[in-house]
Amino acid sequence: MKNYLSTEQAKVTACQLIKMKQNGEKIAILTPYDYTTAKILDDTGIDAILIGDSASNVMAGYTTTVPITLDQMIFYAASVVRGVKRALVICDMPFGTYSNPIDGVKNAIRIMQESQCDALKLEGGIEIIDTVKKIIELGIPVMGHLGLTPQSIHKFGTYAVRAKEEEEAKKLINDAHALEDAGCFGIVLEKIPAKLSALVSSELSIPTIGIGGGMCDGQVLVIDDMLGKNKGFRPKFLRVYADLHSVITNSVNQYITDVKAMDFPNSNEQY
Ligand code: KIV
Repeated sequence: MKNYLSTEQAKVTACQLIKMKQNGEKIAILTPYDYTTAKILDDTGIDAILIGDSASNVMAGYTTTVPITLDQMIFYAASVVRGVKRALVICDMPFGTYSNPIDGVKNAIRIMQESQCDALKLEGGIEIIDTVKKIIELGIPVMGHLGLTPQSIHKFGTYAVRAKEEEEAKKLINDAHALEDAGCFGIVLEKIPAKLSALVSSELSIPTIGIGGGMCDGQVLVIDDMLGKNKGFRPKFLRVYADLHSVITNSVNQYITDVKAMDFPNSNEQY
């Protein structure tokens, strides 16, 4: 299996992701939430790492991303940052922390200073454009997020595919242009028709990153999902690369058996 980190390379920057699009090189992103996993991912040579607010679901077991707080996101982001030398590290601003430019700027500064990540991701289009501009003016790279925006789940009421109808698709295209004009370095397109993603990707000069968005300039997946840790979660867009649920279950069962049979620890495993 190819390892993409063949030589010691410098830190990936937000500008480099734009250059990758210009050069026709696809961008690979994954979302870990802890130091050890982040270190493994960084050692593969992955381009960027996102500390998604999906930590709310994956790490904390909430049904939505709404409950996770700024302090909790900073804790996860700081843990990940300590494990990464090379990949660009992007952190989600959690729900309610950028509902106006003043709060957005204050909370963006907190995340950058306390986690030491490299960039932030915000969900939304025209509605948050003033906040996005102010954060970028501070010198913080911002990634947008359109289509299915899980922080608005209570407004939409469903995690179904977005922008299937013309009116919503037109708004998404306008939002994508507004985010590019505001200075975003990329946009996540979540769960929208592949044709719409292709159109947006061809119109923008910044990279689009798909998750259920078809063939974009790059892809992002939640690490726990792509490693098959969450047995019941199999949305159409997900490719599962391992069966960690079985690996963990079988290993733990073997451990219980060994302990009960007094097979563990053996003489080599004692001081
Ligand atoms: O929170 C998250 O993990 C995300 C990705 C799914 C894009 O926003």
